[in-house]
Amino acid sequence: APKAIVAPSILSADFANLGEECRKTIAQGADWLHVDIMDGHFVPNLTFGPPVVGMIRSHVDKPTENYGKGTFDCHMMIAEPKKWVKNFKKAGCDLYCFHYEAANSSAAESPETTSELRTSPRELIRYIHDNGMLAGIAIKPATKVDVLWDVLDSPHAKERPDMVLVMTVEPGFGGQKFMASELPKVQELRKRYPDLNIEVDGGLGPGTIDQAADAGANVIVAGSAVFGAKDPAEVISLLREAPPD
Ligand code: DX5
Ligand code: ZN
Repeated sequence: APKAIVAPSILSADFANLGEECRKTIAQGADWLHVDIMDGHFVPNLTFGPPVVGMIRSHVDKPTENYGKGTFDCHMMIAEPKKWVKNFKKAGCDLYCFHYEAANSSAAESPETTSELRTSPRELIRYIHDNGMLAGIAIKPATKVDVLWDVLDSPHAKERPDMVLVMTVEPGFGGQKFMASELPKVQELRKRYPDLNIEVDGGLGPGTIDQAADAGANVIVAGSAVFGAKDPAEVISLLREAPPD
């Protein structure tokens, strides 16, 4: 499996001090920052958009290589993922991870959605790559892992994702209970794709990391477990060092 990466979710940071919170988390040993973007439509919660991402970008050094330290891993919980690709690139996003359900949803096919915003997961991944970012594709708990074979097995490298995100809670809020029921998806992905970056998000912490790492996840998101810790640096290294079986 590829190297372990810890991506604290700034959803649990102090939003009134976001720049400093981001800087501090990287100094405490975080590899990436996981940036949760919610539109109040795809999920029943709102966070922030490109202006805020652009401002916190200046508090964290840009990664010097793909997947490097300081990568902004933007988790796009939004109904129209294609619409925001260029704005987030400009703001400093490095990895644009959209939801499979949004790229295929009735929202994306509603009459209000103009034809240039209609897209398929393959087309969207190509579009993200053409805009100079890494591409991720996320699935909610209700979505079967099988829907991912189409992009992962695409004959065109530009249509294949650089990362898959398996949600281990219903997206929308931090601090929810980890759903171990999602781990068979991770196991199956790891078995088929030994080199794939597989991210897990939701309820990860010292009590759940071992099962996730054993299943084959290598990109670990943690919000409340890192930002709520007495010693965040210790939690970050514990999450990174959990040995896969
Ligand atoms: C939930 C977000 C997560 C969230 C995780 O929709 O995608 O990134 O911040 O929070 P914890 O780690 O507290 O479950
Ligand atoms: Zn997230």
